[in-house]
Amino acid sequence: MSQYKAPRGTHDIYGQLALALEELDKISRSVFRKHNFKEIKTPMFEDVALFTRSIGEATDIVEKEMYVFEDRKGRKLALRPEGTASLVRAYIEHRLDMEEPVGKFFYCGDMFRYERPQAGRYREFLQMGAEYFGNPNPNADVEIILLAKEILSKLNINDVVIHINSLGCANCRPIFRQKLIDYFSSTQDLCEDCKRRLEKNPLRLLDCKIDSCKFQNAPAMKDCLCDDCKNHFSIVQALLQSVGCEYMVDDKLVRGLDYYTRTVFEVRSSAVGSQDAICAGGRYDNLVKELGGQQIPSVGFALGSERVLMAAQNTGFFENLPKKYLVFIAVADEDLFNEAFKFANNLMANKDNIKQKLNLPEQIIVEGPFLNKSLKSQFKLADKLEAKKTVLFGKTEFEKNKILIKDMAEKTQTEFEYND
Ligand code: HAM
Repeated sequence: MSQYKAPRGTHDIYGQLALALEELDKISRSVFRKHNFKEIKTPMFEDVALFTRSIGEATDIVEKEMYVFEDRKGRKLALRPEGTASLVRAYIEHRLDMEEPVGKFFYCGDMFRYERPQAGRYREFLQMGAEYFGNPNPNADVEIILLAKEILSKLNINDVVIHINSLGCANCRPIFRQKLIDYFSSTQDLCEDCKRRLEKNPLRLLDCKIDSCKFQNAPAMKDCLCDDCKNHFSIVQALLQSVGCEYMVDDKLVRGLDYYTRTVFEVRSSAVGSQDAICAGGRYDNLVKELGGQQIPSVGFALGSERVLMAAQNTGFFENLPKKYLVFIAVADEDLFNEAFKFANNLMANKDNIKQKLNLPEQIIVEGPFLNKSLKSQFKLADKLEAKKTVLFGKTEFEKNKILIKDMAEKTQTEFEYND
């Protein structure tokens, strides 16, 4: 046993999980593309100030969870804890707002947060996300929520609750903030974190798991929304209702990132334990401007790939992953190895439509041939690898320009003409 283990909070992805992840990636990409989102790949690390500025100095992510380091020239960098800040940076840097009036982009990749590891919570995890720039209207918020829902339903994840809230805007949020300060200043026994939050970021109190029982009568944002925000939020709800998308308004939903304005949402699944948010997002109308761009209202979301796959454990998604069709190449006589090797390569390249001639499907996996293995052990290996067919190069058949193809399940074999 090696003394080396994957670092705490990270995990290796292999076997069924790797296949499922590939399928989730494929499904998400096709949904994103259908809605006209284009991919942006950004670096895994950025200037630390980008995240501090966009996510907010008084958030858990910035205060406690970022992997910050200095490079050899003393630049302060951080591994990305999320994708939105990087996308906004790239959007401004490449003047993408000049190319199209509305910009729709998606991304996928690893994110890093130094959190306490537990089921569904990692220090390196995968997100797939979408950001929609330049549409201030509530239909964009709903398009993003429905996009998330569409991906989940393609994995048969339908047993979810969509929590939504509005965090208001620069006009009405300060009123709510002050109401929270007034309310909580007279609340006894706040936990240490909440006492700190009360000074720096009172909205985050509503997210506290320890003190949540004391918040039953806390002020709600919906009672402080200005007319514009109220109107925006009611259109979001009317649109969700019009397409039959169920949701619940959740006064306590404040999110852990400071850039949000107006609509925020989380999709929660009871199938994944305490870390039940499988995707989340919201509107951020001021972030592009705050990072040096134009005033471009935007909205987006990200799903946590590992959590989504946990939610898909019992939906039949794993059972229905595309089945592999493995063709094993066996040699009965080592003199034929070179011929078999060439054949395997031609089969993979589908030269002269070999698959068609041999009645094999388009998507196949080719394994073999192997040197220094008895025919018996080659067949044993073919069984172990769950080969559907084994192509056998045998001396007697080959002298007659023939190869044998064995159906491993039915135990039948068919001769085929072999012309170079
Ligand atoms: P977030 O809520 O921090 O939002 O993360 C989005 C999703 O990533 C979560 O719902 C969860 O599924 C997954 N996730 C977060 N932390 C972890 C972790 N430690 N381990 C495993 N999965 C995790 C954002 O990141 C925003 N950038 C979303 C967004 C995009 N808002 C607007 N546009």
